[in-house]
Amino acid sequence: MVARRRPSRSREMDVLSFLPLDVESVAEASGRIVIAVDILRATSTIVAALDNGAARVVPVLTPEEALSLFDPMEPSLRLGGEREGLRLEGFHYGNSPSEYTADSVRDATILFTTTNGTRLLRACTGASRILIGCFANLSAVVDAVRSERRDVLIACAGTAGRLTIEDMLFAGACVSRLADGSFDPTDSATTAAVLWESLSNRLVESMASGRHGRTLDGIGLGEDIRLCARIDTTTTVPEVAGNTILKPSRRAGGKTA
Ligand code: MLT
Repeated sequence: MVARRRPSRSREMDVLSFLPLDVESVAEASGRIVIAVDILRATSTIVAALDNGAARVVPVLTPEEALSLFDPMEPSLRLGGEREGLRLEGFHYGNSPSEYTADSVRDATILFTTTNGTRLLRACTGASRILIGCFANLSAVVDAVRSERRDVLIACAGTAGRLTIEDMLFAGACVSRLADGSFDPTDSATTAAVLWESLSNRLVESMASGRHGRTLDGIGLGEDIRLCARIDTTTTVPEVAGNTILKPSRRAGGKTA
């Protein structure tokens, strides 16, 4: 076997195509800066909720876990998420970014469970940082990664243990933007970039052609595909902190705390 030499001082940039069904912990995340991705729709929705003023999002694995943490006497608590794409019974929100409006989420703590996305977030615990990425914060998340010195893992949730085109397109957009010689891309990172470069001018159509895009369209949520394909509508880059996801606060001089 021929050992592959990495350019000196370069950082590895890898893409996890999907979270396998039987995996509870992503070994590749260990010590790396991770961009967690579930374009349709968990990470797009988390970014929308925090951008619109939610105090925090708490990712949980199951609806039962969310309900066990919910206290109806605590006015800031809300339940959000889906199963089979649809809002769960008794929950305040489903998994559409459009539901998490500024009026309804301001200062709220959202207990959030989705089929694949929140499982991915819980499985990346060994990472040095976990940033929440989606097309809405593409440039901001790329900038955040560029200013770090660690290896990068773009971790895609996929759907039910399979790769999804929308997650790979986003991963490819990140890889393309970070291709400045200081990163050593794995072949899966290069493949994602090739996909992005060939389909970026047909982003909505490409996302809608995928299996999960077709499922969402079939249950009347096709508008979410267009929403989740909007690029650079915010500079908010939420980050996992312990068992919650927060929007980093701004300090004087533009730095984030
Ligand atoms: C998931 O976590 O599987 C998704 O976000 C599903 C969805 O589109 O609601």
